[in-house]
Amino acid sequence: MKIIKTIPEMKAAVGEHKSAGRTIGLVPTMGFLHEGHFSLVRAARKKADVTVVSIFVNPAQFGPKEDLKTYPRDLNRDSVMLEKEGVDYVFHPEAGEMYPHGYKTYVEVRDLQEKLCGRSRPEHFRGVCTVVLKLFQIVGPDIAFFGQKDAQQAIILRKMAQDLNLDVQVEIMPIVREADGLAMSSRNTYLSPEERAAALVLAKSLEAAKRQIDHGERRAGVILGGMKAMIGEEPLARIDYVEAVDMEDLDPVKKIVKGTLIALAVFIGPTRLIDNMIVSLER
Ligand code: PAJ
Repeated sequence: MKIIKTIPEMKAAVGEHKSAGRTIGLVPTMGFLHEGHFSLVRAARKKADVTVVSIFVNPAQFGPKEDLKTYPRDLNRDSVMLEKEGVDYVFHPEAGEMYPHGYKTYVEVRDLQEKLCGRSRPEHFRGVCTVVLKLFQIVGPDIAFFGQKDAQQAIILRKMAQDLNLDVQVEIMPIVREADGLAMSSRNTYLSPEERAAALVLAKSLEAAKRQIDHGERRAGVILGGMKAMIGEEPLARIDYVEAVDMEDLDPVKKIVKGTLIALAVFIGPTRLIDNMIVSLER
């Protein structure tokens, strides 16, 4: 496994594989890797000849009051684990390599970027789209892998790839959870033991929603009301949003159908956590 820090070196490395006719799989990450990330890595290993994992804590997607400085980082640990997973390249650029002095260009996916998480994180998805498009240009993947954990992000990136006619297939992989149901996240490391226990309320509220849907309830208002009441009972939790939306346009729906996205963002103490489920209507 090779760790590459500069854009020309990364382009040269994949260039050789491409001229030999090998397919490239890319897994973009911000590091501090967990099983959620590794599920994407394994999918990439299975579907592409060459696997590239990028590790870059992207300043452009953090708001001024967000956790850019404190975001957990451990390149050594990440590299050891990625080597064991059989990854071929880790792309780990410095911020100045990706955004040199005088950098000016940003990519926006209008409307979708303003919904759900976009309301409390106004520049976030513009930063995500910009860095991912840059990574696509640098690595030239045939397939790129993203997690449903960040469902809005995956939907926006798929739309970007479609709208800009990118020759990359965007794959969305299921949410990987801890044994007790908490969706894995690098930000879970911020939680104190009390907050860690309280954080379960996100997954629990989704499970409760699923039970109601399984029993035939289809009114979004009733289901979201139940979720909000449940979260409201957790003293350490403060709701940012709990919504049921259409997967295409992310607009709220009144009636739950197959494919409806139920998504929530909840502050547990100072830490903002997200979770979601896509309604399957299959038992
Ligand atoms: P990061 O939070 O490191 O996540 C990298 C990828 O792992 C994303 O596609 C995310 O959805 C996926 N992922 C995270 N937790 C997961 C879980 N529990 N189960 C399944 N997949 C999970 O998302 C980002 O980084 C950044 O925004 C990025 C796309 C790299 C752009 O900077």
